[in-house]
Amino acid sequence: MFKKGIYTIEKLEKKYHSFKSRSNKRISITLYETAPDNLKEFILDDFCDPRNTFKRTYSKRFDKFDKKIISILSERLSKRNLHIHDCGVSDGRTSVEFFEKIKQINPNIDFIASDYSPELFIQKHKNITLTLMPDGNLAEILFPPFVFKTCKLEKLYRYPINWIVFSLVKKILEKKIKDPNYKNSSEKIRIFCPDALKMEKTYNNFRLSKYNLFDSMNHSYNIIRTMNVLNPTYFSDKEMKIVLKNIHKGLSDDGCWIIGSNKGPDSEVSGAIYTKTQKGFSLFHKESSLPAIHNTISLFNA
Ligand SMILES: C[S@@+](CC[C@H](N)C(=O)[O-])C[C@H]1O[C@@H](n2cnc3c(N)ncnc32)[C@H](O)[C@@H]1O
Repeated sequence: MFKKGIYTIEKLEKKYHSFKSRSNKRISITLYETAPDNLKEFILDDFCDPRNTFKRTYSKRFDKFDKKIISILSERLSKRNLHIHDCGVSDGRTSVEFFEKIKQINPNIDFIASDYSPELFIQKHKNITLTLMPDGNLAEILFPPFVFKTCKLEKLYRYPINWIVFSLVKKILEKKIKDPNYKNSSEKIRIFCPDALKMEKTYNNFRLSKYNLFDSMNHSYNIIRTMNVLNPTYFSDKEMKIVLKNIHKGLSDDGCWIIGSNKGPDSEVSGAIYTKTQKGFSLFHKESSLPAIHNTISLFNA
């Protein structure tokens, strides 16, 4: 009849003590900062950005793939003044792993790991906690024992109580949710994992930033990487063309673009490397299955 969420570290640790299976319970995003590092990725499992794209990511997601790609690109990677932009990185854990491997070939590369929406705004109102997106939209309501995620609300017919409580709380806090000055009354949290934040502090050639693939890049990159971002279900044809244009323009003349998607850690990647041509992109390396948008990429005309 009603579904409880996970909203304390104790409950999170208990649920994931075996790490064997992921849960369909809603885990409150408010736990992200205080959760043990090895549990943070579970919190992102069912969390979406303002475009409703999942921020799901996994440690060691591209272990074999990274090694292969690095060996294919080893000559390019050893060049001086190399700039890499890893886009749509969620909390950056896969960027840290990629950077660590590349660093062994070339410690001086300039590496930027970016995401569309790496910040959240948290407000406490008595026993209700609101989490707002950077655009002011509601991401989550925590009202123990309920955790309501706007991108993954429970179905009305399965959990009518959840629906009623969610609607009531939303109505009561409507003014707070719609307050245009919500940032002033909120605590801002950055959704980057501790390893990424540590990397940023330790190396001045590793930076974390906010970047939307719909915007043109303000730098020229030798390598651009987009992993598990350009899913055709999340981007219309028109949007995809804008993104391709920005990637094309953001690449240096000898630049290349790594693209791929997969499921769990170290699972098979449908991916490829494309080089920049004057008109578009040319396939340089392909995995056993090509990216879902390969045809769109091949037909792209800059
Ligand atoms: C499924 S996660 C993939 C994270 C990581 N690359 C990986 O493979 O584990 C997709 C990420 O892309 C980001 N994203 C979606 N649309 C984007 C856009 N227009 N510009 C930049 N990032 C975007 C989402 O916010 C999310 O963090």
